[in-house]
Amino acid sequence: MIERRRRRRLHIITHVVVALGLLLVAAAGRFAYRSSAAARIPVVIGVLLLATSHILMTRELYRLENMERELHDANRELESFSYSVSHDLRAPLRSIDGFSQALIEDAGLTLVPEARSHLDRIRAATQRMGRLIDDLIGLSRVTRSGMTFERIDVTDLVEQIVAELRRQTPDRVIDVLIRPGMTATGDPHLVRLAFQNLIENAWKFTSRRPHATIDVGESRDKDGVPAFYVGDNGAGFDPEYADKLFGAFQRLHTSAEFPGTGIGLATVQRIVHRHGGHLWAEGETNQGACFYFTLE
Ligand SMILES: Nc1ncnc2c1ncn2[C@@H]1O[C@H](COP(=O)(O)OP(=O)(O)O)[C@@H](O)[C@H]1O
Ligand SMILES: [Mg+2]
Repeated sequence: MIERRRRRRLHIITHVVVALGLLLVAAAGRFAYRSSAAARIPVVIGVLLLATSHILMTRELYRLENMERELHDANRELESFSYSVSHDLRAPLRSIDGFSQALIEDAGLTLVPEARSHLDRIRAATQRMGRLIDDLIGLSRVTRSGMTFERIDVTDLVEQIVAELRRQTPDRVIDVLIRPGMTATGDPHLVRLAFQNLIENAWKFTSRRPHATIDVGESRDKDGVPAFYVGDNGAGFDPEYADKLFGAFQRLHTSAEFPGTGIGLATVQRIVHRHGGHLWAEGETNQGACFYFTLE
C-alpha cells in the first residue's frame, strides 16, 4: 500500500517536472532565438537538466514497480504454499484424532487412568492444532478472496454478531453499546469478519468481569479520517506491546487464561489493509482495551 502511494506520488512529480522543464525550454528557446549565440547556453543546460531528471525519475519508477511486482509474486507464492500445507495437514490430523477416539472406545475400560489421560491429551492437542489450521486457512482466504465494494449497514451487522454471541453464551451478562446509524463502504464479507474478530475478542477478554461492557462506535484517526472502534472493560494488555498484537500467533495472554490461536487480529489487519485503511490498539493491563480501524 505504501509502495503504491509512493509510486503514484513519483508519477505526479515526474509529470510536473517534465511539464515545467518543457515550459522552461520553450521559453528559453524563444528567448535564445531572438538573442545572440551566447544566450543559447541556458537552453542547452535546460534541455540537459530536463533529460537527466527525466531519466533518473523513470529509472526510479521502474525500480519501484519491479520491486513491488517481485514482492507481490513472493507473497502469492507464500500464500498458496501455506494454503496447501494447511490443507494437507488436516488429513493426518483427523487420522490421529479419529484413532485416539477409537482406542478410547475399544479399550477405554481396560486402560489404566494414566494411559486414558494421555489419550485425552493427544485428542485435545490435535483438536487445538485443527483449530489453528482452520484459522490459518481463514487468514490466507482473506488475502486470496476477491473483493466487492458495497455500502454496509455497520450497526445492523454488529447487532447480528452480538445477537449470535448472546445465543452462544446465554449465561454471560454483558452491556453492549452500539452506536446507531453507522455505515461504511467495503467488502461486506470481510468487514463482517473484522468486526466479528474484534467483538469476539472483547467478549472473550471480558469473561472474568462480573459487569462486562462493550462499546462499538465511530471515531477519527489523528488525520481526521473516520474510524470504527470496539472497546471493552476486560483484561486489557500492556500498552508497550500494542503494535505486536497484529502479527500472526502473537498473544499477550496464555491459553490457560484465555483460549485462542493468535490469528484473529492478524486477520483483521489484513482486511483493513486490503481496504487501504490502518488499525491501532489502546489498552492498559486490567483496564480494558480498544481497537480502532479505518477503511480508507
Ligand atoms: N479485547 C482485548 N483485550 C485484551 N487483549 C486483547 C484483546 N483483543 C486481543 N487481545 C490480545 O491480542 C492477542 C491476539 O489476539 P487474536 O489475534 O484475536 O488472538 P486470540 O483471540 O486467539 O488470542 C490476544 O491473545 C490478546 O493477548
Ligand atoms: Mg481473537
